[in-house]
Amino acid sequence: MTTDFSFRGVACPKGEADVACWGVSEAKGAFKRMYFKLPHLADDEVRIKVLHAGLCHSDCFKVDQEWGQNVVFPVVPGHEIVAEIDKVGAKVTKFKHGDLVSFGVYRDCCGSCEPCRRGDDQLCSNCPYKLTYDPYLGGYSTYMHVKAGFVYFLPKSIPKERAAPILCAGATVFAPLKRWSKPGIRCGIIGIGGLGHMAIQLASKMGMQVVALSTQPSKEAEAKKFGAHEFVCSKNEEQMKHLCTKEPLDLVINTAFIPDITNYMYAVKAGGCFVEVALPEVDKPIIFNNLDVVGNQKIYTGSNVGSRTEVEATLNFCEKFGVYPMTENYSWAELPKAYKRLHDSAPRYRCVVDVASTFDDL
Ligand SMILES: NC(=O)c1ccc[n+]([C@@H]2O[C@H](COP(=O)([O-])OP(=O)(O)OC[C@H]3O[C@@H](n4cnc5c(N)ncnc54)[C@H](OP(=O)(O)O)[C@@H]3O)[C@@H](O)[C@H]2O)c1
Ligand SMILES: [Zn+2]
Ligand SMILES: [Zn+2]
Repeated sequence: MTTDFSFRGVACPKGEADVACWGVSEAKGAFKRMYFKLPHLADDEVRIKVLHAGLCHSDCFKVDQEWGQNVVFPVVPGHEIVAEIDKVGAKVTKFKHGDLVSFGVYRDCCGSCEPCRRGDDQLCSNCPYKLTYDPYLGGYSTYMHVKAGFVYFLPKSIPKERAAPILCAGATVFAPLKRWSKPGIRCGIIGIGGLGHMAIQLASKMGMQVVALSTQPSKEAEAKKFGAHEFVCSKNEEQMKHLCTKEPLDLVINTAFIPDITNYMYAVKAGGCFVEVALPEVDKPIIFNNLDVVGNQKIYTGSNVGSRTEVEATLNFCEKFGVYPMTENYSWAELPKAYKRLHDSAPRYRCVVDVASTFDDL
């Protein structure tokens, strides 16, 4: 029996499949093996063979349906991808079979709406399915069909088994750091996980005075190796008080998905900027002291991954400055184990699954 899922291909028995995946068939469900036939390769698409996939906490929010009830199940997540070009569509000239490439959070944009015209293609307002997965197959798959215009060459010097998290975790913090940074300013990074450990490295290479804020004192030594000049344990009232009153921050990038940011906002200088990249559950409104924000003319803003230009700039910056994700690498068969660690925010600091170590061998 086959099930038809528009856009994602057709579910089928393993023996007839083009692609093997790890996915969930219901909200908060367990990861299971799934097999699909891929649709026809369009002229502007490439078929990529996934080599490595990073596991991002957004995958958990999607699978758990914590950003709204509109998720189309089954879901095959994954949007941090290192791959090889397997096949090119009739009109694709940029890539050829065997090229080492990467692919991230966005798979499409309209190209003509206002955000697209000014280069903010991640903000496209006119494209129904622009995210990599849901309802398409994401990177927890052996193969994918994707538009060639959203595929990036992977710089050769970046170790390919560590590179995948640059495509989401790296780009998501690089874009706002670049947008708001000035050399020498004090920049706080809240939460040292997948996004946070990249943010510390990137902010430090951009010449900022980096303060890492974490709930876990055990992360101090690694935060300093990543380039943090100072470490503040956010559970330590004395340290937080000192930061807020004596040495507040010009810029903050928040990667911790917590709704109540009141105390962290107090650590921003008057006129300073708090950039939210974390995305807590949709039904939990963000809380801060509005008197503090208005009275001290603080900026509260958000940032959504990055445009294709910003993703490319992230890859180039990482190559130039030798900034690589610190990864825990797992085999394809171990994906559920890696996902459980992600769900617990346990990885130091990003799980990457070696998809090409597949036991499906399609
Ligand atoms: N804006 C975007 O475009 C974009 C892109 C990708 C991801 N995201 C979002 O960014 C967030 C982080 O993703 P990630 O993959 O980096 O997650 P992660 O690897 O799990 O790291 C999150 C970190 O947040 C901190 N944290 C967790 N629970 C906390 C709590 N209750 N109180 C204080 N800190 C807490 C922890 O750091 P410490 O142990 O150091 O405290 C943890 O390591 C998620 O919400 C994700 O959906 C947004
Ligand atoms: Zn992500
Ligand atoms: Zn558009």
